[in-house]
Amino acid sequence: MERGVFITFEGIDGSGKTTQATFLRDFLTERGIEVIMTREPGGTRVAEKIRDILLDRNNIGLVARAELLLYLASRAQHTAEIIRPALGKGIWVISDRFTDSSVAYQGCARGLGMEKTRELSLFATEGLVPDLTFYLEITPEEASRRLAAQGKTLDRLEVEQKEFYLKVIEGYRWIGSQEPDRFITIDGSKSPEDVWEQIRTRIIDRFPHLI
Ligand SMILES: Nc1ncnc2c1ncn2[C@@H]1O[C@H](COP(=O)(O)OP(=O)(O)OP(=O)(O)O)[C@@H](O)[C@H]1O
Ligand SMILES: [Mg+2]
Repeated sequence: MERGVFITFEGIDGSGKTTQATFLRDFLTERGIEVIMTREPGGTRVAEKIRDILLDRNNIGLVARAELLLYLASRAQHTAEIIRPALGKGIWVISDRFTDSSVAYQGCARGLGMEKTRELSLFATEGLVPDLTFYLEITPEEASRRLAAQGKTLDRLEVEQKEFYLKVIEGYRWIGSQEPDRFITIDGSKSPEDVWEQIRTRIIDRFPHLI
């Protein structure tokens, strides 16, 4: 049986990952493709518990290395329990965040090193890399406008400063320069429909039988 396709969404908080991942899931489902949508950190019982630790505002003193290792522990579980088995059955998997988030957030913004972080994450995933990644780029100002409009209470990560997000963006851009075929940068500042149109075009480019 043909292996499923693994697609991930990346971008800073509020960039539209969940919105676009949902559009993609519906698009694929309408074309008869079996697809699951999952998210990081989380997606399994163990991983959801790790997610609670990571997003708990009381854990503001969590050191960068501990934070990275928690994300990697969560990803190892998520990959082994959900992603690999699904791909093996020919199911397509859409994940809201994956290795690139660690590289941009912990590797670049927290200064742990991008190459090092990528290497550690490959250990956690036993070498699994997405087939295709959509990086939705927006400015930190636009992200905070969207989140405020949602009336959302800010979690630990969202309380971080604008400079932090600028470094995250720098990290994502570095990945794009390293792996331009896999890591596709999309202008996320447009309307949800316009952003989706950019993604749809790329998907059809890559998988022409889906038209
Ligand atoms: N292209 C867009 N233009 C304007 N608003 C948008 C756009 N896409 C999504 N939104 C809105 O912005 C907010 C954040 O979108 P969404 O939840 O999809 O982003 P996200 O990247 O998944 O965020 P998070 O990291 O917080 O999960 C939502 O209120 C959503 O309705
Ligand atoms: Mg989301």
